[in-house]
Amino acid sequence: MKIQGKQYQTIWLKEGNPEIVQVIDQRKLPFQFEIFELKTVEDAFFAIKEMVVRGAPLIGVTAACGMYQAILNFDEGDFEKYINEKADYLKSSRPTAVNLAFAVDEMVEFILSNKPDSELVQKVLQKATSLKEKEIEYSNKIGEFGLEIIEEIYQKNKQAVNILTHCNAGWLACIDWGTATAPIYKAHLKGIPVHVWVDETRPRNQGARLTAFELSEEGVPHTVIPDNTGGHLMQHGLVDLVIVGSDRTTATGDVANKIGTYLKALAAKDNNIPFYVALPSSTFDFTLEDGLTGIPIEQRDATEVSEIEGWTENGIQTVRLIPEKSVAANYGFDVTPARLITGLLTERGICKAKRESILELFPEKGNTKKQESNIK
Ligand code: MRU
Repeated sequence: MKIQGKQYQTIWLKEGNPEIVQVIDQRKLPFQFEIFELKTVEDAFFAIKEMVVRGAPLIGVTAACGMYQAILNFDEGDFEKYINEKADYLKSSRPTAVNLAFAVDEMVEFILSNKPDSELVQKVLQKATSLKEKEIEYSNKIGEFGLEIIEEIYQKNKQAVNILTHCNAGWLACIDWGTATAPIYKAHLKGIPVHVWVDETRPRNQGARLTAFELSEEGVPHTVIPDNTGGHLMQHGLVDLVIVGSDRTTATGDVANKIGTYLKALAAKDNNIPFYVALPSSTFDFTLEDGLTGIPIEQRDATEVSEIEGWTENGIQTVRLIPEKSVAANYGFDVTPARLITGLLTERGICKAKRESILELFPEKGNTKKQESNIK
């Protein structure tokens, strides 16, 4: 997608030096556009943990690139042990988005099933690139299926379709197109009038800072709203459709997404508004049955709540928001139970948030070994 009219993806190899991976530094957007370079697996860990990159699909691809850099920097010793250590290290960077483990496990399996010869580095780079290309294709397909939903609403109402989204499940969170935003971009490109209600998404403000930025750059009409506004808008007929992303979706259709998603799903249910979750297959965790007990919820630094960042004439500044003696809590995600979800929007089509319906789209996952709980 575009930034100042120039086409970008969120992660790529440095021109002239394929050993360096470049990403857009999302900590600085929308105020400054800066490229961040990853040269080592430690850089990839840092970028994921500190949210230089964020969003489930991008986290996965960054980790895959981290494994590529681990191979590049391998010196000597027990290769298999080294690879497994780097994989565990990367997987510990953020707990909720399952794409991270999915991508790292795929890379490890690939690396260890190949001979550790002089061609391995190139092969591993190709593998990481193919994971990236797959994510782009998934987002593109999600966009095409989601477009049908928006088009149907437009044909019925013959007026701009109002879509509410939470957090940033846009192209910045993915590699291109986005998950929740892909249908919106497709509709906009097709000339269907759309308007997006953008939840600001405290505490990190991914909606206000990133989704609003993306939509501005693509010229999509949108309005940023405080997180508590959605229910009021729904009660007054100002929301036709909710589309959010996911960081992990169970075999039964429970969805972990940015904190506050659950409340939007409750309000949508109460107001009979379709609530869709857009996700690529890399975001399913088929080992899990119950999202509430199974999905680990990241707790981040409380200063993300007690302070806020913004733009002043002196650049990006941080200010304190709460009394010095008060304590803040920072749960990064919540779980929306399947019963509140109208449908899951995947690269293979739309299904109900129910095991049978999910397996109709992904029959090969029917025999996945289940685990009781993922929470240690
Ligand atoms: O903490 P983040 O910014 O990595 O969380 C991302 C989200 O929760 C997004 O809403 C998104 O749906 C998942 S990525 C497409």
